[in-house]
Amino acid sequence: MELRMPRRRAASAWALLALVVLSECLVAPALALAPPSGAGPAGNTATSPQAAGPGAASVTGRRVFASQLERDNARNRTYQPSFGLFPKGCRWRTVTHDNSSSVTYQYWDFQAETWGDERPAACVPTSYPAPGPPGWRWNNDTPRTEVTCQTSHCVYTNMYYNNGRWYALVDGELYIPSWRFSRNQEVVPFHVLDAKEFIDSVKYQVVPGDTILFDFIFFIHPTAIGHWWEMLGPLYSILKTINFKRPCDQFVLLHLGRQHLLEWVRAMIAVTLGVGLDDELPPVLVQEETDNAWNQITQQLSGFARDTWYVFERVLIVKDLATGGGRVFHTFDDAREFRGLIYRQYGLPPPAPRPQVPRVITFQRKRANRRIVNEPEFVELLKQYGELKIVEYGSNSSLYEQLLQMRETGVYISVHTSNLANAPLLQPGSAVFEIIQRNWMWNGLDRSFKDQTHMMVDIHHYAWRAKYINQTVYLNERDFHKVGHWPAGQCGTEECVEAHTNVDVIVDLAEFKALLDDRLPHVWAGEGVQQASIPWPDW
Ligand SMILES: *[C@@H]1O[C@H](CO)[C@@H](O)[C@H](O)[C@H]1NC(C)=O
Ligand SMILES: *[C@@H]1O[C@H](CO)[C@@H](O)[C@H](O)[C@H]1NC(C)=O
Ligand SMILES: *[C@@H]1O[C@H](CO)[C@@H](O)[C@H](O)[C@H]1NC(C)=O
Ligand SMILES: *[C@@H]1O[C@H](CO)[C@@H](O)[C@H](O)[C@H]1NC(C)=O
Repeated sequence: MELRMPRRRAASAWALLALVVLSECLVAPALALAPPSGAGPAGNTATSPQAAGPGAASVTGRRVFASQLERDNARNRTYQPSFGLFPKGCRWRTVTHDNSSSVTYQYWDFQAETWGDERPAACVPTSYPAPGPPGWRWNNDTPRTEVTCQTSHCVYTNMYYNNGRWYALVDGELYIPSWRFSRNQEVVPFHVLDAKEFIDSVKYQVVPGDTILFDFIFFIHPTAIGHWWEMLGPLYSILKTINFKRPCDQFVLLHLGRQHLLEWVRAMIAVTLGVGLDDELPPVLVQEETDNAWNQITQQLSGFARDTWYVFERVLIVKDLATGGGRVFHTFDDAREFRGLIYRQYGLPPPAPRPQVPRVITFQRKRANRRIVNEPEFVELLKQYGELKIVEYGSNSSLYEQLLQMRETGVYISVHTSNLANAPLLQPGSAVFEIIQRNWMWNGLDRSFKDQTHMMVDIHHYAWRAKYINQTVYLNERDFHKVGHWPAGQCGTEECVEAHTNVDVIVDLAEFKALLDDRLPHVWAGEGVQQASIPWPDW
């Protein structure tokens, strides 16, 4: 047995929380879910008032299935829209309940073509009672766990799950300690003298095939979609080079609820896994949901019995930032190919150099925290440089609508926030101007988006940084008293980092104007990114 232990590292959650909650910015002003085209469950939304997005006709019906917001007064609940790509046979919609933060789900009944409360079997990967499906055999004839690790990932054969924990079945006398496989999850070695005898004496089920086990390590900010780049980029590159099924047979997503699998996220996962344009996602296994992120991470896998051992035949785990992995694609080519494939999902041509960078400035505003306090003046300033489009995306904005906007954008301006996750989707020659709140620098937090745009090679990325306390409004007065006077260099504790997600920013207009005046001529002139780059602003 080859067991190489990743060293434990004492990084904590806050250290990795670069981005902030998408749900804060709520509703998009112009929700343009393309209407269903053709047959399928789309039928019952025929009367939907939602307008067709431009070009909707070119998108396949499968991708744009949309249900609308529905209110059920009798039950004090609201059914949220449901659209985009789903795991095969498992389409859900989120149900919110009045005066409660918890959500439940309804599932599409593909036979009856209606929504219902019952979760289809397809929402849980198929598992087979011992001794596994017909003709199935243990790899190397042993139920023992084996693992091989590279710098970026590990592949396990026979990985066990029982009652909330992941196990490596280790036989023999040698003591092996537990190790972490991701930021929030560990593998517990289960020592037995004989693996076969052990497995014959427990109740077990076999989950055959290739499984990706994925810990969304930033679980405290489950809707911070920017983190998906950091985690899917490396996975995309790895899957291209190793012998692992594409798409995998099942995807185990730890620590998030279905509600966090926004359409944007599902499309990204599909491209990462190599899901064909006419295919659906493989089964996505999640944990039973609770309404508290800290409880969520200890929940039982949904649909799995507590008294049963589940053996996953082959499992791929990508190392995350806390276990020695990286946060970008392995190559520039992979990053650009990925960007093109996202567009392809929606029937759009891949990003390509344009004869002229359009003087279209897209400003992404926020309505909750990290608002620009002097926004009216800021907006007036931006208008001087081109045609200004103001957008505000939320959990039910379609990726399609966001792609259309990124396609036409020349300059993308936003505070440091989740939806800068769209920045790497810009076309070649475009520029990002990011507004970074004060004291936001610890461990490269401030470069999390720049690291992604950098991989595309052809997107300029500049930033203006708030440096003074008089450019910062603490939304929670206690934060002001606790950490407001800390210098940036010391703002590396959970308290300080989290406090600085919850601020509004006063932009120094003269400085921002100077930055635009300095850089935009290079952008409009179509200069290369390297050539037009300037140092990242210090703190
Ligand atoms: C979008 O989703 C939010 C919840 O995330 C909900 O409150 C809102 O009503 C939805 N808006 C539309 C237009 O569906
Ligand atoms: C809905 O809410 C009202 C009060 O807001 C309450 O009287 C009623 O019982 C609720 N109905 C259900 C089905 O929970
Ligand atoms: C729920 O909230 C609404 C609006 O916030 C309020 O009018 C209503 O009375 C509340 N219902 C209950 C049962 O608390
Ligand atoms: C903000 O604080 C900085 C540094 O203390 C100071 O130089 C600047 O004048 C202040 N700006 C305003 C508008 O008060």
